[in-house]
Amino acid sequence: MFKELIEINSRPKPFQFYTADELWTDEYTSKQMLNYHLNESIDLSSRNKNFIEKSEKWIASRFDINNNTVIADFGCGPGLYTTRFAERGANVTGIDFSENSINYAKKVAHEKGLNIAYVVKNYLEFETTENFDLITMIMCDFCALSPEQRKIMLKKFYSLLKPGGSVLLDAYLLNSFHQREETASYEKNQLFGFWSADDYYAFVNTFKYEKEKVILDKYTIIEESRKRIVYNWLQYFSKESLITEFEDIGFKVKEVYSDISGKTFDSKSNEIAIVAKKPSNIFEK
Ligand SMILES: C[S@@+](CC[C@H](N)C(=O)[O-])C[C@H]1O[C@@H](n2cnc3c(N)ncnc32)[C@H](O)[C@@H]1O
Repeated sequence: MFKELIEINSRPKPFQFYTADELWTDEYTSKQMLNYHLNESIDLSSRNKNFIEKSEKWIASRFDINNNTVIADFGCGPGLYTTRFAERGANVTGIDFSENSINYAKKVAHEKGLNIAYVVKNYLEFETTENFDLITMIMCDFCALSPEQRKIMLKKFYSLLKPGGSVLLDAYLLNSFHQREETASYEKNQLFGFWSADDYYAFVNTFKYEKEKVILDKYTIIEESRKRIVYNWLQYFSKESLITEFEDIGFKVKEVYSDISGKTFDSKSNEIAIVAKKPSNIFEK
């Protein structure tokens, strides 16, 4: 027991383990996640319906989405944005490794008569010969990736964009990092049975990595005959550190906002949204 508690409370190196699939694709938890996505009044898994409507409207006008726009949404979930983009006539691809969410998105597309290309895949490994005007990654998923994974992702975005195309994504700012604290707790059937249909005890350890500006929520879930550890990493950015990651790959960043509904950037806000452009030609400043 003492040894187990030491393991439960042990602090890994930043981004040492990647278990995003445990959280999103496990047969049981992916169903719980879908319920969160589809709950229109909360900001869990997806944002609330009012915000999605407002932000989709802003994205459509900012990027002039029409019949000629080719869009890829990385981590599209159940298609709350892809459906709306396709309803505006855009040619849309949605990528997500949750089969459960993609099945739901496909069902909606079928019911609405929309032709959306949905791909069940780890987006770090996604490949296509198609090129896009706009790539989106919505609800701070970029923050869940390690520095190496982010570099892979940004290089992929760059190569998949048409010249002059843009990436739009949101991320957590350092203000929200400062609001987090290290904690350790445990609870029976934590999150109302989110992790399993059977009884379990979930130990939740929050670790703060001051130098790297990373937070880990480490979940050790213990059932009668199974033990799982899920690592939920979040990288927090300053406006400058986020812009630098994009510019290092070759993007030009001329616009930042406080969120993906186009809210004016405020250095005191918890989130940032960035529009990063692939230059149209080598002379573009
Ligand atoms: C926070 S949710 C946001 C969903 C959607 N963008 C929205 O705002 O409604 C993150 C999504 O990314 C997906 N995801 C996380 N890591 C992924 C990966 N490595 N490859 C593919 N999809 C991933 C999850 O399955 C989930 O649907």
